[in-house]
Amino acid sequence: MIRIEENVSLKGLNTFGVDVTAAYFTEIHTEVQFQELLLHPIYHGSRHLILGGGSNILFTKHFDGLVIKAGVSGISTTKEYDHHVFVKAGSGDNWHQLVLHCLQHGWGGVENLSLIPGTVGAAPMQNIGAYGVEIKDVIENVTGLDMITGDIRVFNNADCLFNYRESVFKQELKEKYFISSITLRLTKGKHQLNVQYGAIQDVLRHQHIDHPTIIDVSKAVISIRQSKLPDPTVIGNAGSFFKNPAISEEAFTLLKKGYPTIPFYPVDNQNVKVPAGWLIEQSGWKGKKIGRIGVHPHQALVLVNYGGGSGDEILELAMKIQSSVKDKFGIALTTEVNVV
Ligand code: EPU
Repeated sequence: MIRIEENVSLKGLNTFGVDVTAAYFTEIHTEVQFQELLLHPIYHGSRHLILGGGSNILFTKHFDGLVIKAGVSGISTTKEYDHHVFVKAGSGDNWHQLVLHCLQHGWGGVENLSLIPGTVGAAPMQNIGAYGVEIKDVIENVTGLDMITGDIRVFNNADCLFNYRESVFKQELKEKYFISSITLRLTKGKHQLNVQYGAIQDVLRHQHIDHPTIIDVSKAVISIRQSKLPDPTVIGNAGSFFKNPAISEEAFTLLKKGYPTIPFYPVDNQNVKVPAGWLIEQSGWKGKKIGRIGVHPHQALVLVNYGGGSGDEILELAMKIQSSVKDKFGIALTTEVNVV
């Protein structure tokens, strides 16, 4: 049985803690429930928004439609070989709980993605990534239900068209599929650790760990995240608000002349990515507090709601930051967070 509620507050369902309401709200626990929902008159009469953990969304107004919370849960091992294991998780499962489950079983591949807020279903949507790993590196497949017919489709890794914080589910198939589960392909031994990221190396060196395990890497990632990123259960935020922009090699060479210490990540032969957090800090915004909202003092890429701030206030701050960075560096920042 599906239950649709009316005029539901979304305050506890978005990590910015923005106080807005949805005209209609339902939580879906199984694929069959989603298929039932497709027959409901309210589903037909309204626009829809699928919500995971609400950790990458900024609500700026009342949502005059149906919010569908993905609540499909359950972690299971679907196949196991000598060196690999396939692990399936429901879209409503908590991402970090899945990471912990894998670590407890000694399965490698997701340790660098420890402590990322949000749900399993949202992870492939935006190809979550951190410290040198993206979910695309471990995704075997994603199961989705067609939002018109209810037909189940399994997308293999290539079908997902993963890119930096992008996938087919945010582009061509936006609002076309309800993700019900994902399957990861993980290593059982001989893990391929990714410890090149400077901050991870610093933590491991400091702890005199020469031969790290997946648990050591996870712990290092957790300590880095906790030192830089505000805990959304304490201070409202949605992680990085903007994407790191890619600029041409020529533009970067010019920029480096003026700012010799600018950090960068090479993308390919023609493009270089520069950290948006650095651009925002150089534009004078880091740690700025404006009433109930602001820019985090430890990571300028994170906008925060200290309590009671509205989505509009946060969006206005984001636009001011975009125009400062454009004026100073000629670089257009695009949002990583979905603004609704
Ligand atoms: N930096 C500054 N000032 C700041 C923030 C960063 O100068 O206020 C500089 C740092 O000193 C460093 C560089 O920018 O040289 C990169 O900073 P950091 O390692 O913190 O990573 P990031 O590029 O800002 C990205 C992801 C994060 C992810 C980290 C680690 C994006 C948009 N963000 O941030 O992802 O955790 O790398 O891999 O790609 C998220 O998507 O929500 C998120 C938190």
